[in-house]
Amino acid sequence: METGPFYITTPIYYVNSVPHLGTAYTTIAADALARYRRMTGHDVFFLTGLDEHGQKVAQAAEENGVSPQEWCDRIAPKFRETWDLLGISNDDFIRTTEQRHKTGVQAFWTKLHDDGYLYKGSYEGWYCVPCETYYIEDQLVEGECPSCGRGVEFIREENWFFKLSEFADRLLDHYETHPDFVQPDTRRNEVLSFVKGGLRDLSISRTTFTWGVPLPFDEGHVTYVWIDALLNYITAIGYGSDDPEMQERFAHYWPAQVHYVGKDIIRFHCVIWPAMLMAAGLPLPETVFAHGFLLTKGEKMSKSKGNAMSPAQLVDRFGVDAYRYYFLRDVQFGSDGSVSMESMVQRYNGDLANDWGNLCSRLFNMTEKYLDGVVAEPLSEWHDDGDDTLTALAGVLPEKYEEAMGRLDYVAALEAVWDLVKDCNRYIENEAPWNLAKSEETWPRLETVLYNALEAVRIAALFTAPAMPSTSAEVWRRLGLGDIGDVTDIAAEAVWGRLPVGSRVTKGDPLYPRIYEE
Ligand code: MSP
Repeated sequence: METGPFYITTPIYYVNSVPHLGTAYTTIAADALARYRRMTGHDVFFLTGLDEHGQKVAQAAEENGVSPQEWCDRIAPKFRETWDLLGISNDDFIRTTEQRHKTGVQAFWTKLHDDGYLYKGSYEGWYCVPCETYYIEDQLVEGECPSCGRGVEFIREENWFFKLSEFADRLLDHYETHPDFVQPDTRRNEVLSFVKGGLRDLSISRTTFTWGVPLPFDEGHVTYVWIDALLNYITAIGYGSDDPEMQERFAHYWPAQVHYVGKDIIRFHCVIWPAMLMAAGLPLPETVFAHGFLLTKGEKMSKSKGNAMSPAQLVDRFGVDAYRYYFLRDVQFGSDGSVSMESMVQRYNGDLANDWGNLCSRLFNMTEKYLDGVVAEPLSEWHDDGDDTLTALAGVLPEKYEEAMGRLDYVAALEAVWDLVKDCNRYIENEAPWNLAKSEETWPRLETVLYNALEAVRIAALFTAPAMPSTSAEVWRRLGLGDIGDVTDIAAEAVWGRLPVGSRVTKGDPLYPRIYEE
């Protein structure tokens, strides 16, 4: 089943520091959606990468006594390694220092310059290096950056401007006619009122430092890092390339279905970026979805606050799938959410060790013990009304899951899976296969009950796969089934009764061994 292209992106991360839970969060969410869309037959292109230019990165390099390029080359592998560790299935990884990106950025500037969207002017105002953002005096809060609260520096430069102010009406019209363009609605309102307040033209070049993409028509100017960064979404898939294959790729995947971003960077993505695309005559992405912040003890988790945990530490303790599950299940996507070691242990032991892991273990063990590991045929004459809730829940799962994921609501999607998982546990308790195994008379009922429960597990594993790819694949292996990663029509695969009679089930170690709090 082919259901069309699906292009999904994460922000590209600054290489001033290594990946942390915050940056991993967006990447995991994007990965789960990319995996699910592959399972619904979409031709997915999942992009992530690195934002390597700008003052902040140049400063980090300087502090470490290396050139900016050396610094980027040193940090880039740390991101790649972390994404490997977290099972991220990105199709490409863009670095803004790559030639393909620079070529695309310059092609973009040439077009906007030729079409009269740029002019030279002088900029006077404040700049926040950690946020790489320009401010006018009035926007500062007690003389400091309104976003991160850190110091700002005064800059006075001659630079190039993009006529952003000309786009306010077209932007407002787009928000109006495309209610899904900015999501969730709280962010949409924020963007609307910002644009209604009027837009100023945007300074898009710098002359006081050199770590950026040079403007093709004015030597000595490098591209303002944010503009450079936004363009990654098109340069990565071939914008500005003269290679016909890349041009085809661009035509195929652009516009993106969804950009995932944090709520702190929506103005760039929902105001500046669409205006840039309009100026270049390109279609706009379908949705920019802004998630909230992960908080620890009420504060945004960040490297500079020193309260950022490393993904590797958590993977070490909980395993990669449990890590992924926790952040998708415990934090409503689109809202801020507190995370803590205690709640992670709780989720792990409750949802994963008890509900899901234990269900699998019990069933695989019983199949081995009573049926020599061979799935037996469920007999219609041994059907019981008690089976109906289970089959009904399995039956509605594909639709419920799709509906939730269509809204990018991971919590609801996982809850739908857990409705089935929990009911399957209830089913086992009610049917008590260990009693059915006691007499020959009830033996066919035992076989039917085990079939039903294993079938529910097979289906549940399909829908845990986007969030927890490796353990889901393991469940399928233990059920004697093929590679879950090959599924491209999840709804067809989820039809009740596809577990083959005669399948060989193996028990194996617990999927999520219980964790005892230290
Ligand atoms: N380089 C820019 C993005 C350019 S995209 C064209 C940038 N990079 S960043 O590394 O600083 O942050 C990237 C993303 O991580 C942002 O979306 C930000 O919201 C997110 N997070 C950083 N800390 C976070 C939390 N504590 N919680 C959730 N996400 C947060 O901005």
